[in-house]
Amino acid sequence: MLTSLALACAAPTLGWAEAHTFEMNIEDTKITLVGKQDFHTFAFNGQVPGPLIHVKEGDEVTVNVNNLTTLPHTIHWHGLLQRGTWQMDGVPDVTQPAIKPGDTFTYTFTAEPSGTMWYHCHVNVNEHVTMRGMWGPFIIDPKEPTPIEKEVTKDFILMLSDWASAWAFKPGYGGVPGDVFDFFTINGKAYPDSQPLRVSRGDVVRLRLIGAGDLAHAIHIHGHVFEVAFKDGRPLPAPYEADTIVVHPGERYDLILRADNPGRWMVHDHVDTHTLNGDKPMGGMMTVIEYTEISAKDDFYAWKDKQFAPDFYYEESLKKPHGMYDAAVFQGQAIE
Ligand code: CU
Ligand code: CU
Ligand code: CU
Repeated sequence: MLTSLALACAAPTLGWAEAHTFEMNIEDTKITLVGKQDFHTFAFNGQVPGPLIHVKEGDEVTVNVNNLTTLPHTIHWHGLLQRGTWQMDGVPDVTQPAIKPGDTFTYTFTAEPSGTMWYHCHVNVNEHVTMRGMWGPFIIDPKEPTPIEKEVTKDFILMLSDWASAWAFKPGYGGVPGDVFDFFTINGKAYPDSQPLRVSRGDVVRLRLIGAGDLAHAIHIHGHVFEVAFKDGRPLPAPYEADTIVVHPGERYDLILRADNPGRWMVHDHVDTHTLNGDKPMGGMMTVIEYTEISAKDDFYAWKDKQFAPDFYYEESLKKPHGMYDAAVFQGQAIE
């Protein structure tokens, strides 16, 4: 798996195809939101979000998926074209039988097109994706990056999700009309358990927003105008400026934000009912852009004593050679 990494690292834009083989386990896991609400998850490698898959356009990807849970699953690679490999698209009863408990299925395909993609289960999507955390990021570097991509100094992935506590511990059920969503997460954590986006003046920040849940989210960033540069992985022919962007389920938007305004800036869903933890406001889909030039120690600051998790937006993993990366910060607890 790691044989040609040096080559990839030295020349990531030359498009020399590599072959990657990854092992992925689906595990019964429990996550706890804001210290009070447990959810039963079917978690890729025991974590929500699942591991980062980071390859380059044209790479050959093999994923051995081991289903260690008691229900069937598949993996759909959302955004990948699967040209000549439609049987690898991960749709139960259409492209394959679902992977039964205890079974393994091997997906093999070419990573294309480039951009911010993601993967998710395609069995009982209403439940497995919306309620059980079966999603992860799949980033494909382009053979020919756009000029703006080459300027990026900080690369962050934000997966947006909604949770209905009524189904929290009823695996096999959930995702029906009338569901009340009462927890909202960025990368599987609700504020104040989310993490700051740490930047420094002069950074060119790429924010990869992925709609992994069931609702639309109006993500607003204070103190900046950003450029909407990519939609569903594709570079936009005419990028546009905005301070709020609506991300619908399945969609991806890559924003480019020039860090030119040192301070402490709120980032939040402007759908107010998505900034709840259960029945309590000031939670859910919120985070803060923290400039390193500004002390985080103000007494009034909610996150003044926050323990920083540097890979929370997969920004550390994205700097590593191409491959698949787990992140300890997303690990749940095993359910026996
Ligand atoms: Cu599933
Ligand atoms: Cu999808
Ligand atoms: Cu605001």
